[in-house]
Amino acid sequence: MNPRLAKVLRSPRSAWNLMRLRWAQAQAVRDRSKIGRSGPIAEAELDRIHWSESLSNPTRFYEKCHCFYQHNLPADLRAHRDYFTVCSRGFGEDAFHVLWFLLFREIRPRSFLEIGVYRGQTISLIALLARQQNHECSITGISPFSSVGDSVSTYLKTIDYEADTLANFAHFNLPQPRLHRSLSSDESAKALIKSQPWDMVYIDGNHDYDVVAADWELCSQQVQPGGVIVLDDSGLNTTYQAPRFATKGHPGPSQLAAEIDRTRFKEILQVGHNRAFMALKP
Ligand SMILES: C[S@@+](CC[C@H](N)C(=O)[O-])C[C@H]1O[C@@H](n2cnc3c(N)ncnc32)[C@H](O)[C@@H]1O
Repeated sequence: MNPRLAKVLRSPRSAWNLMRLRWAQAQAVRDRSKIGRSGPIAEAELDRIHWSESLSNPTRFYEKCHCFYQHNLPADLRAHRDYFTVCSRGFGEDAFHVLWFLLFREIRPRSFLEIGVYRGQTISLIALLARQQNHECSITGISPFSSVGDSVSTYLKTIDYEADTLANFAHFNLPQPRLHRSLSSDESAKALIKSQPWDMVYIDGNHDYDVVAADWELCSQQVQPGGVIVLDDSGLNTTYQAPRFATKGHPGPSQLAAEIDRTRFKEILQVGHNRAFMALKP
């Protein structure tokens, strides 16, 4: 027997935790294949006119996105997700690739800002979608490119995150993005956010309420009418029931989502714990 496993099993508490982990992993695999078994989804079912279902029945809509990922999404987009999943190069869920596929096709952003880049999974997906759809989109990421975390997240200390992000872009032969190395609360980052209007923003940096609220406050002033802000990890106060391979979000972004001024922003789409808000004309 593996000596580490033997050591774990000698301690009753560790053995119990290991059993619980294995059980949770088995349940996650079971949920994944159960949802995937419902087969391909007619693409029209995810058209914009059906996005309201993502708000009224977010669990069912998430399942459809998961099935669409497994059976319908173009193979190169699935290969992109595989690349980031296999070596733990990224977080997220398969269905989020469908979220960005749908949003990009519908909104056709010319500018995209991500707060919290990690290793570049989402911004490189946006670059890939832009190339596929032959649509020009400038891509900017603001992140410390270090292991800086928050009260709910920790990150590895052993990675050069900026070099890694650029290498991941190069892997897909994508044009290099504009990367700004700082916290979103730093003056230089705030100046960058204020420097132009944005068509699409993804807020996924520090998940603590005060920081995410400050990110929202600033970005919401810079998003053009018709533009969209996607708020990560904000599903806790919704009726969405996450399958056991997915998560519902964190308190900070979820509280912020509940406080968004609905006279300025209309929620248009929810895929799991990611929620998209469109800026309305003043
Ligand atoms: C969950 S990861 C982002 C994943 C990324 N959005 C993606 O989809 O691939 C959060 C990232 O935000 C970074 N971060 C933490 N605090 C931040 C802050 N105050 N401003 C910007 N980024 C921050 C972390 O270091 C980490 O790289």
